[in-house]
Amino acid sequence: MLKAVILVGGQGTRLRPLTCNTPKSMVPVLNIPFLEHVIWNLKAHGINDIILAQHHLAASMVQYFGDGTHLGVRLTYVMEDAPRGTAGAVKNAEKHLDGTFFVLNGDIFHDRDFTAMLDFHTQRRSKATIVLTPVDDPTVYGVVETDSQGRVKRFLEKPKREEVTTNMINAGTYVLEPDVMVRVPPARKFSFERELFPGLLDSGEPVYAYSSQNYWMDTGTPEKYLQLHRDLLDGRCDGYKLDRQVIAGKDRRIHPSVRMSGRVIIGEGCVAEKDAKLNGPLVIGAQCRIG
Ligand code: GDD
Ligand code: MG
Repeated sequence: MLKAVILVGGQGTRLRPLTCNTPKSMVPVLNIPFLEHVIWNLKAHGINDIILAQHHLAASMVQYFGDGTHLGVRLTYVMEDAPRGTAGAVKNAEKHLDGTFFVLNGDIFHDRDFTAMLDFHTQRRSKATIVLTPVDDPTVYGVVETDSQGRVKRFLEKPKREEVTTNMINAGTYVLEPDVMVRVPPARKFSFERELFPGLLDSGEPVYAYSSQNYWMDTGTPEKYLQLHRDLLDGRCDGYKLDRQVIAGKDRRIHPSVRMSGRVIIGEGCVAEKDAKLNGPLVIGAQCRIG
């Protein structure tokens, strides 16, 4: 069975104040935890066996998701005794992996076509396939140079402006063969971006890049978090269909005089009082009172 490891180790310091008391992956997007969207995306492609790699136990995550049964997936929580870096975190989960597997950065909202990625990887007999997406400013990402066949020539993490040769960056999704993990030393910090990928390329291993044109958003800052909501509410993510104008959680009380326009999502237990106007696109969290 196909498995995926999601890296959920990040503190989300750039997403404060949202992440003061909430782990980054539990921050709500359209009123459900960010991570739940990622899990739905995996499940839609038949990937039900999901490993959550983290370095401190997020109690709220375990409380909400449990073993995943209510979402129809199997969740395994794997803890590092200290932050092991991106590849080190996967090494720490190695005993749960057997065949080809996916790795996902846990802070990216991406309409991922896992099925097409796996087909691409298999057809090319790739050892490691890195998914790419175009961005305006590649300097805050990992830049990936490829040849005309899509084979990766160079991986450069956080390049200086003068080093940037392409706007295609590492989108934070990999398809990997289990034997590449032999190169990752156990119980020490190790990075996919700065160590494993450059190492595979130096040894001439087949590393390929799959270019995705699908919706992609790094949710790392409050501005991008807000933009993600606008995009989803305005239907700019193809894989995400909101089929109703107003979606309201249970136990809400909306006075008949309340006027609504545009797309509105109302959390559970909300109260909208007489003559309130709700102008979408709008998401109201749980237990809010609008006067
Ligand atoms: N378990 C665990 N342990 N997870 C970790 C650790 C760790 O020690 N370090 C980082 N992570 C997780 C983060 O929570 C995040 O989900 C993911 O790994 C990537 O780490 P970031 O710290 O968010 O890296 P970045 O955003 O600067 O860059 C990465 O993402 C870009 C795309 O957004 C790189 O992969 C870039 O190459 C890429 O372009
Ligand atoms: Mg990030």
